[in-house]
Amino acid sequence: MKSKKIFPATLGGVVQVPGDKSISQRVAMLASLAEGTSKVTGYLNGEDARSTLSAMEQMGAKAEFRDDALYITGVAGSLHQPDEPLDMGNSGTGTRLLAGLVAGAGVEVSMMGDESLSSRPMGRIRHPLELMGAHIGLTGKRGTLPMMICGGKLKGMGYLLPMASAQVKSCVLLAGLYAEGKTTVIEPRPTRDHTEKLFQALGIPIQINGLEVSIEGFGPAGPKYKARDFVVPGDFSSAAFWIVAIAARPGAELVLENVGLNPRRTALLDVMRRMGADIEVTMTEEQGDPYGTITVRGAPLKGTVIEGDEIPNLIDELPIIAVAGALAEGQTEIRDAAELRVKESDRIAEVVKNLRLFGVEVEEKEDGMIVSGPTALKTPDVAIDSHGDHRIAMSVAILNSFSDGPIVIKNVGCVDTSYPEFWQHMEQLGGRVK
Ligand code: S3P
Repeated sequence: MKSKKIFPATLGGVVQVPGDKSISQRVAMLASLAEGTSKVTGYLNGEDARSTLSAMEQMGAKAEFRDDALYITGVAGSLHQPDEPLDMGNSGTGTRLLAGLVAGAGVEVSMMGDESLSSRPMGRIRHPLELMGAHIGLTGKRGTLPMMICGGKLKGMGYLLPMASAQVKSCVLLAGLYAEGKTTVIEPRPTRDHTEKLFQALGIPIQINGLEVSIEGFGPAGPKYKARDFVVPGDFSSAAFWIVAIAARPGAELVLENVGLNPRRTALLDVMRRMGADIEVTMTEEQGDPYGTITVRGAPLKGTVIEGDEIPNLIDELPIIAVAGALAEGQTEIRDAAELRVKESDRIAEVVKNLRLFGVEVEEKEDGMIVSGPTALKTPDVAIDSHGDHRIAMSVAILNSFSDGPIVIKNVGCVDTSYPEFWQHMEQLGGRVK
């Protein structure tokens, strides 16, 4: 990619990012449990969403893509025993949420995944599920996949989450569907609430009281609710790459249409505005999860501090925020983000390493980093390995659009997990990709 050539077409450009990965996978699970057929519009055609949908098909759901929509016919609460292990690919959300969903559903399930997923901690879901009465075996070396779940009769419980994690919260709430009695989770900081919003949309009885969420269990027979139609908005976390690419480029302008605007996902907008970005948001409709149009205009950026409650609401955007930090005047400090070390890769180590390859001054911290800018980027003369992490691959590609020469990024197949059209969109905006 050559920076001189990239993004000349962005003035007045429009991009439609693909469907939200978190919402798509939750919709696949909940529509598969419903009674009847749900029509899903905007379902992410990416690998993670496909792995989760296939897993649900292995347990009796029927899925069909027809006329630009996905139709899912559910099992009315009675999951079937799968014949084969569930291959969850790269999907942490699919694995952790599904573990909760099947834990009390009277089936025995084993799950496996790719190299990145097989290195991610699963003890964080085993612990609460065992407290509820499930039997979980983790046969990987360090509390990792492969995982065996021998469902048990679950009892509702109160659980204080040891970390701010929407995946663990959702895992426990989904297990709560098949439990006897009430299950309550208390989070240390607010995290994305797509599971709660979908429960409400389906009429599943939940109560939300600040950071406390409770669900009244249906017992081992499972939940009974009717299918409905779902509209999945564009993924804010995919839009984030273009928000930063344009915000840091004075003179450029881009419109991102149909982007999910759930307030627990959009803290990047606050951060970018603090950094000096010119961003306009128009909320077009509200339907469970709000969505709308984001217009970004490039401006000179300055550093900021990102920490505390803001972190879970931009957790997946931190690699691209670090890129913004490299282009901004002064220091950008990221703290309280140790969770980044257990994502698809150790994102603190990978981001620090990659920024340094571009000549950026960055200090690594246990729970984040301090990035100094602005940097006159140098083009790395070695290939950069994504290590199978989609957000690392895309962040490096955006960073390089600000440098002078072409680079080689290895292992970019992972981008298909969340954003298969990423390279095409980069070319649409003037980037050159081989
Ligand atoms: C997700 C929650 C976050 C996020 C992940 C998707 C979800 O993970 O990083 O990409 O869909 O619930 P944690 O819950 O582990 O923080």
